[in-house]
Amino acid sequence: MRVLLHTGKGGVGKTTLALATALGAAEHGHRVFVLSTDSAHSLGDALGRRIGPRPVAIAEGVVAQEVGVLDELDRAWSEIQEWLRQLLRDEADEMVADELLVFPGMEELVSLRAVREVEATGEFDVCVVDCAPTGATLRMLRFPDALRIFMEHFFDLERRGARLLRPLVKRLGAAGLVPREEFFDAFERLYREVEDVRQILLDTDRTTARLVVNPARVVVEETRRSFSYLSLYGVATDAVLVNRELPERATGGYFARWGARQREELEEIARSFPVPLFHAPLHSRELRGVSDLQALAREVFGDTDPARILTRARPIRLHKRGDRTVLAIDLHGVRKEELDVRSTGSELLVRVRDAERRIALPASLVGREVDEAHLDDGVLEVVFAA
Ligand SMILES: Nc1ncnc2c1ncn2[C@@H]1O[C@H](COP(=O)(O)OP(=O)(O)OP(=O)(O)O)[C@@H](O)[C@H]1O
Ligand SMILES: [Mg+2]
Repeated sequence: MRVLLHTGKGGVGKTTLALATALGAAEHGHRVFVLSTDSAHSLGDALGRRIGPRPVAIAEGVVAQEVGVLDELDRAWSEIQEWLRQLLRDEADEMVADELLVFPGMEELVSLRAVREVEATGEFDVCVVDCAPTGATLRMLRFPDALRIFMEHFFDLERRGARLLRPLVKRLGAAGLVPREEFFDAFERLYREVEDVRQILLDTDRTTARLVVNPARVVVEETRRSFSYLSLYGVATDAVLVNRELPERATGGYFARWGARQREELEEIARSFPVPLFHAPLHSRELRGVSDLQALAREVFGDTDPARILTRARPIRLHKRGDRTVLAIDLHGVRKEELDVRSTGSELLVRVRDAERRIALPASLVGREVDEAHLDDGVLEVVFAA
């Protein structure tokens, strides 16, 4: 199943373009599922009808759902987090606490599980995800990493014995919420599920992101940062969708200066993103309902199947150079001074501005010295000794 993540700054047109993409893909014969993982659901607003937590058909070959129901597991998860908070107050060392305190919440978890459920039905070729604005999307992508790190510490704590777990058992017992067995079962199930989704999201043959921008300076700048963060988390962006372009014919007279500024921004967009651009004009009214959105899909994609992988990229890759191994990460638009790379022996810590990723090294690289790390033409190369 192909997965298309739509993200971008607030209000740029993510929901509108995610739906247009879904409807356009259906016209190319795909069976499409559109999923909104933004807690401020708006598929319904854009379609002019109610969409809820149950999947509903919105057009030939297109099913939509706004995810957001909490079930038993999610409640168990709240407990886990609560316990964690308690534990951190007393026990954890500083680094672990740092990692865990940024641990993402329910929303991201629910979103990730939804993608997996769509895949599990086996009934869809394409899953279009209308994501929350970029910050939350990045938290979602960070989730599997954070969970892995958490699991390692969690089981470590368990091994260290009942001393640390006793407060947990007491708490849960006293509150009568979740018996211990269930708690651990829930946790393991959760871990497996998130691992499954990680496989889907990081598989560049299946999943790509589409960044939606408007031709305006603040939007372009933020989106450029998102582009590199997505790459850092291993997600390839295969197209940028430029929304709300003022048509040429509308840029005379009063709008002449606006037109000139827009042209500058469009050039900046073309320079900033090394992927194909698709363009959606600004309409004089809201785009609402299936037929408006189908028409928009034709305007934006023409004859191109929007579900295709529009450009191939593998943002994180390993290759050999002589007898040394090179780990390369695409970090287009990142400057040297915004980057920090460290190796712990088993993980590579890559920090880009305020985002950090811990990349678990493959067994063959564990314990190997980093010979050099350099950033050239938007590609970070970390060279491991032979
Ligand atoms: N090209 C366009 N021309 C005219 N109106 C548009 C265009 N694109 C989007 N809109 C309108 O702009 C509003 C915001 O669009 P949309 O909801 O898709 O943005 P969003 O990025 O999903 O917002 P949020 O961050 O709140 O989720 C909607 O009313 C939509 O109909
Ligand atoms: Mg939206």
